[in-house]
Formats: sequence, C-alpha cells, structure tokens
Amino acid sequence: MIRAIYPGSFDPVTLGHLDIINRASRTVGELIVGVLNNGGKTPLFSIEERVNMLNEVTRDLPNVKVMSFSGLLVDFARHTQATVIVRGLRAISDFDYELQMAQTNRKLNPDVDTMFLATSLEYAYLSSTTVKEVASFGGDLREFVPECIIGEIRQKIQEQG
Ligand code: PNS
Repeated sequence: MIRAIYPGSFDPVTLGHLDIINRASRTVGELIVGVLNNGGKTPLFSIEERVNMLNEVTRDLPNVKVMSFSGLLVDFARHTQATVIVRGLRAISDFDYELQMAQTNRKLNPDVDTMFLATSLEYAYLSSTTVKEVASFGGDLREFVPECIIGEIRQKIQEQG
C-alpha cells in the first residue's frame, strides 16, 4: 500500500487543494495531508484552524488523514512511513520552485519520491493568497473555497480588522 503526503500551508485550503486531495486519494492507499507549522511565515489561520478546516472538507474521504508537521518534510515522511510526496503543478511559474524542492527532498531522503499532479484547468489561477485578497475586500468566495469554510474565512478577516 502506498502512503503519500500532500504537504502545504493551506492558509486556507482552496478548491484547487481539494481537487488534488480528491484525485491523489483515488491513486494511493492512504493520503496524509501535512499542514506546515513552521515558524517562518506568519499564517492568517492558526495551525489548529487550518487542520480543522481540512478535516471538515475531507471528512467524506476515508483514506485521507490530516496532520500538522514542523521541521523538514522528509522527516515527517520518515515518521509517518510515507514514501511519496504529492504536489500540484498549476503553471510553469510553479515549476522551478517545485523541482528545487523535490530535488532537495530527494537528496535529504532518497527513499521518498515526489509526484506531481497537473492542477485541473479550472483551478490553475487559484491560490490561498488570492483567496485572502478577495476575502479582504468582501468578494464572493464560492468559486474559490469549499462552501462550508466560507463563514470561517469571513469571520477571520473581520477579526483582523
Ligand atoms: O503550500 P506551500 O506553502 O507551497 O507548501 C510548501 C511546503 C510546506 C511543501 C514546504 O515549504 C515544506 O515542505 N516545508 C517544510 C520544510 C522543508 O522540508 N524544507 C525543505 C524542502 S526545500
């Protein structure tokens, strides 16, 4: 059975992420959504909030598990005994960074391979940053994120003032 990790910041999870989660979960035995909890970037949503939102939007996917991680992704892979890292590629602009990351991870742990899924066309433009931008100006989020987390995003934006 292949156990894979789909890592990311998920600040917040978008329909593009969910599309990759759905498709990857049909391909592997178990998919762990790994939510990054590193100190570097200051996310809008806390690690608990990001994990909760992901749990909510993946609750109908029995082979998907949501976990937070800190430190190196390859160490998290070792810890969870995952052998595959899944990443979505939206456009050529993602490629340099993704390739660099995949090759670094492979140097750090040759037992783990990165597999890329081409993002579905309808989500090729979408990112968590876009979602936050649209939300901050009160725009309609229904095309961008799962319906059940829209209220939570609105509330967070309001709290931020
Ligand atoms: O959603 P993102 O922010 O594009 O995800 C980036 C992520 C979490 C996959 C990446 O930053 C990561 O794996 N961070 C953990 C630290 C690490 O292992 N770095 C070495 C790879 S270059």
